[in-house]
Amino acid sequence: MKTRRRSSAPSWNASANGRRVTSRRGVGGGELPGGTLEPAPAEVRRDLEAVLDLWHGIEPDLETVAAVPRSDPRFGAAYDRVEERCGALNDASHRVVSTFDARASRLRRQMLAVLAAVAVATGLVFIVGLWLTRRFVVRPIRHLDVAARCISGGDFSQRLEVNTRDELATLAGTFNDMAEQVERLLGKLDLQRKHAERIVFSVPAGLLDIDSALRIVAVNRSFLESCNCELGTLVDHPAVEVLGVSELEPHLRQVLASDETLSGIFCTVHCPGSGKTMPVKIAVASTGLKGEKKELLVFVEDLSRVEGLAALARVSDERLRRSEASFRALIERSPDSVAVHRHGRFVYVNPAVLAYLGYDHADELVGRPILDVVHWEDREVSATWMRATEDTGGPTPAREERFLRRDGGVVTAEVVALPLVFDGELAVVAVARDVTERRQLVAKMMQMDRMIAIGTLAAGVAHEINNPLAYVVANLDFVAREFPGVTAAARRLAAALTQEHDLIPVDPAVLDSANAPRRLEELHQALDEAREGASRIRNIVRDLKTFSRVEDDQREPVALQRVIESAVNMAWNEIRHRARLVKDYGPVPPVEASESRLGQVFLNLLVNAAQAIPEGRVEHNEIRVVTLTDGAGRALIEVRDTGSGIPPEAVERIFDPFFTTKPVGQGTGLGLSICQTIVQGLGGELTVKSEVGKGTTFQVVLPAAPMNDTEQRPIWAKSPTPAPGRRGNILIVDDEPMIGRALLRILAPDHDVVVVTRGREAVERLERGERYDVILCDLMMPEMTGMDLHAGLSLRFSECAARMVFLTGGVFTPQARDFLDTVPNQRIEKPFSAQSIRALVRELLR
Ligand SMILES: Nc1ncnc2c1ncn2[C@@H]1O[C@H](COP(=O)(O)OP(=O)(O)OP(=O)(O)O)[C@@H](O)[C@H]1O
Ligand SMILES: [Mg+2]
Repeated sequence: MKTRRRSSAPSWNASANGRRVTSRRGVGGGELPGGTLEPAPAEVRRDLEAVLDLWHGIEPDLETVAAVPRSDPRFGAAYDRVEERCGALNDASHRVVSTFDARASRLRRQMLAVLAAVAVATGLVFIVGLWLTRRFVVRPIRHLDVAARCISGGDFSQRLEVNTRDELATLAGTFNDMAEQVERLLGKLDLQRKHAERIVFSVPAGLLDIDSALRIVAVNRSFLESCNCELGTLVDHPAVEVLGVSELEPHLRQVLASDETLSGIFCTVHCPGSGKTMPVKIAVASTGLKGEKKELLVFVEDLSRVEGLAALARVSDERLRRSEASFRALIERSPDSVAVHRHGRFVYVNPAVLAYLGYDHADELVGRPILDVVHWEDREVSATWMRATEDTGGPTPAREERFLRRDGGVVTAEVVALPLVFDGELAVVAVARDVTERRQLVAKMMQMDRMIAIGTLAAGVAHEINNPLAYVVANLDFVAREFPGVTAAARRLAAALTQEHDLIPVDPAVLDSANAPRRLEELHQALDEAREGASRIRNIVRDLKTFSRVEDDQREPVALQRVIESAVNMAWNEIRHRARLVKDYGPVPPVEASESRLGQVFLNLLVNAAQAIPEGRVEHNEIRVVTLTDGAGRALIEVRDTGSGIPPEAVERIFDPFFTTKPVGQGTGLGLSICQTIVQGLGGELTVKSEVGKGTTFQVVLPAAPMNDTEQRPIWAKSPTPAPGRRGNILIVDDEPMIGRALLRILAPDHDVVVVTRGREAVERLERGERYDVILCDLMMPEMTGMDLHAGLSLRFSECAARMVFLTGGVFTPQARDFLDTVPNQRIEKPFSAQSIRALVRELLR
């Protein structure tokens, strides 16, 4: 517009009076049709300019000025003034005015066009606004309205779609959330309602729903089944008619009015559909909360069905009774002890309990406190267990308990207890399994373990004691042997001195020796006592060695009665002042054993039996020895006595080494443990039964010797025998010089004896050509052992190796044991007696 205005900007060069009129501001509208205008006088120009200024105040355009009607009061005066002053102007000035007019009318037209355009635009805006309003306000509101109506009609699936972000969108979102929550809640309620309906209509009792007009509204399945009719035949029927009790009506109304319940009403249902009648018992309750419409719920119990159930119950009672009977039979025959107790007292015991505890009838235990039969040491723990079983109501873990038998014996059982309804009342059932044997087995194993330990110890001790004991015993023997000769010589000397002391002057010391015989007597006695003591030590050491099984006794078939006879003979001195001896010998098979070891067993049993009986009342007491063959063909020997008996707590310990009740010096407590070791070593058993005040029975069971075992095992190969009585050459090899000297003293009077302390020395002598009839050689020596010497001689002087006799002190290495098992040479145990050594050498030289 501006461009156009500039391009067409008039330059006022026409003027009245031939003068050019030029706009001060350079505005104008082209050349005037009247030709060139004279310049207007200054006042005109001023007025014109004022007009133009005015125009420009509105619209700085000459075209606009032209459009301004002349009648406009704002310009009227200016025009008038211009005209008045320019009246004298030439036509040109008129033309200017008319130009102004033309322009003004053009401007007016243009303004009108503008106004029309504005009107059209306003209309368009209105239409668009209207369209927008309908689209974004009215339509959502309408949707909201429709959705609200749907929800109020029960359709909760309606949701509003909103694409804007204004308040309407917020409103729609809230609406959708609300609809969703209501839908969820109603869904839940519906589920609960259906669940309640299912429960109500599936209960085994019949149910009738009755409205306030006392007409049936609904009926459950159980009632329909009982009546055998369809729902349709009952709905809308008067309830009183169906229930068959007209007097019921006022009561039903009262329940409706008061919310009370009625129960225990007996009536007969008449089903209109099926015509069936049945005896029933009903209860009535009202439904509905305060202010709600009330209905009645009638619970119907079909009595004909109850009778059927009663019959069924009778049948199951019978079954229960029978199953209880079989359960009892099962318990009665159970090998385990089963006892039922209530409040700590027996209410039932099975026969196994009676046998286990030694009772004859259940009455002897039923009613008694259960703790009466529990070992007194276990009573506290047992009471705690019983309480725990009753309190926890669960089974207790298995535990071991000791029980007292009627005869005073103690038995051990593994017990499990659990609560149980017995004869209709809660009780505790305890099942006990006898583990006495198992316990005994464990005790035996422990004892064996102890024995092995003692055996190891004993072997070492024996070896250490045996060497000094060997020369103590040998020397004592030697002294005792020599003593009578020395005593006789002393006597002779004393007599000679007594006769001659008048003739020759006698030294007072010599005269004093006149008392020598009496003192020698005392010495002799002391010597005897020392020998006795040494002998006892030797026996103990020998007994100890039994544990270490170092003895390699030769086994052979042994006739038991002969062994028992010799044991009886040895023990007779102990027995005869105390009891009668009864020999009850039945046939018994020979057993394979070492006669001396077996003799040791019976001797100890007989001495024990005798020592259990006080001296003096021989006629009132008895020691009985019984032999017989048991069912398995084994030899069975019993030593019975009527002595003091052994208390139960001691019975467990009598086989322990060193357990004794005898005074110091009388018993070592090794006897029975040695017996057991020997018997078990022979594959047998040694057992005891005892009753305090009545007596004791020891039983030995031994396997019979194999029938064809008649051949004797080679004992010792005999060395070449020198002529009887011949004085022999004896070589003694022992690293213990005192043993060598003791042997020298024993053998030197009858033989030529050489003593060396090292094996190498012996070899050197043999190498020098010395020859010996007997070589007494220690088995275990440092440097060269007896075994090494034997091996060396076997290669070069085999006849000398065969003449070796081994002296053994007690400890056998596996190598030494193997060696002794394989060589045929004689052996002799330390400590040895002088007599046994002389006898052996004499035997070998024969
Ligand atoms: N027949 C029995 N009657 C009563 N008690 C016995 C009988 N036999 C053994 N005893 C008991 O067993 C204990 C052990 O016996 P054991 O033979 O082992 O040793 P001891 O006789 O005491 O001593 P030792 O036999 O070593 O001289 C005895 O002290 C005694 O209390
Ligand atoms: Mg004994």
